[in-house]
Amino acid sequence: MNKITVVGAGNVGATTAQRLAEKELAGTIVMVDVIEGVPQGKGLDQWETAPIEGFDSRVVGSNGYGEAAGSELFVVTAGIARKPGMSREDLLKTNVDIVKSVAQEIGKCAPEAIVIVVSNPLDTMCYVMKEVLGAPRERVLGMAGVLDTARYRAFIAEALDVSVEDIQAMVLGGHGDTMVPLVSYTTVSGIPITQLLRQDVIDKLVERTRNGGAEIVAHLKTGSAYYAPSAAAVQMVEAIAKNKKRVLPCAAWLEGEYGMRGLFLGVPCKLGARGLEQIVEVELTSRERIALGKSAEAVRESMAQARL
Ligand code: LAC
Repeated sequence: MNKITVVGAGNVGATTAQRLAEKELAGTIVMVDVIEGVPQGKGLDQWETAPIEGFDSRVVGSNGYGEAAGSELFVVTAGIARKPGMSREDLLKTNVDIVKSVAQEIGKCAPEAIVIVVSNPLDTMCYVMKEVLGAPRERVLGMAGVLDTARYRAFIAEALDVSVEDIQAMVLGGHGDTMVPLVSYTTVSGIPITQLLRQDVIDKLVERTRNGGAEIVAHLKTGSAYYAPSAAAVQMVEAIAKNKKRVLPCAAWLEGEYGMRGLFLGVPCKLGARGLEQIVEVELTSRERIALGKSAEAVRESMAQARL
């Protein structure tokens, strides 16, 4: 791509910009943040790693959206993060206003861009972005499933003492306590996980995955995770920038898939040059179907709080 803009130069945004540059996913990576000096300083610092890391993506920091004009893709990380004891929903009020204003700016400077939302509460922030930007669903996606799945895969790899590379899995649903790790589709090189781990052990891994974000917040105390979230966002960007047609769990606007419509929910998505190219529908066990329905209810409650 020619230009990708990351909105928010906090921990998630800045780490995302650095990863995008190191992978040379665009000629120019713009980092926009309202705090004076921070995007400029971090952007310059990152650009100065280029001769060492050997990339030619130019990283530019800015307080306005002038530099972002014509970007083909945005990663939106703007918003406040959780502190210990807070749920992602506690961020809603503040982040609705922030994401609304970001959507308006994108509408002015790059209305045709694909937008990957990372701000929390994730599914609701995707909804705010889509509504305010007025974009078709192909161009607004949320990053959550790749992150939740990465945590789940890491925990399984640890429990089995095998390579993370051999763990295939999908975590669907909303990016909250109701997320749905699909145990029936979790395999180690094709071997169902249920043949390798006891059910009570699997249950514990699922529970740890659901609390994965909070586990990091409890350690950090001053904020939330950013290494894995940024890596997850960049994997989605790469699938789009390289038109890889990867099938990844992402928050997407449902229009009848999985029997639901009119909300963002984590589902298997094919990502390519057009953004969301397909929602892949898979069979679910009745337990998984019920859990996905519960997760959708939680997302709808959160959407109502946004009062759009
Ligand atoms: C987490 C935040 C980014 O799950 O939602 O760590």
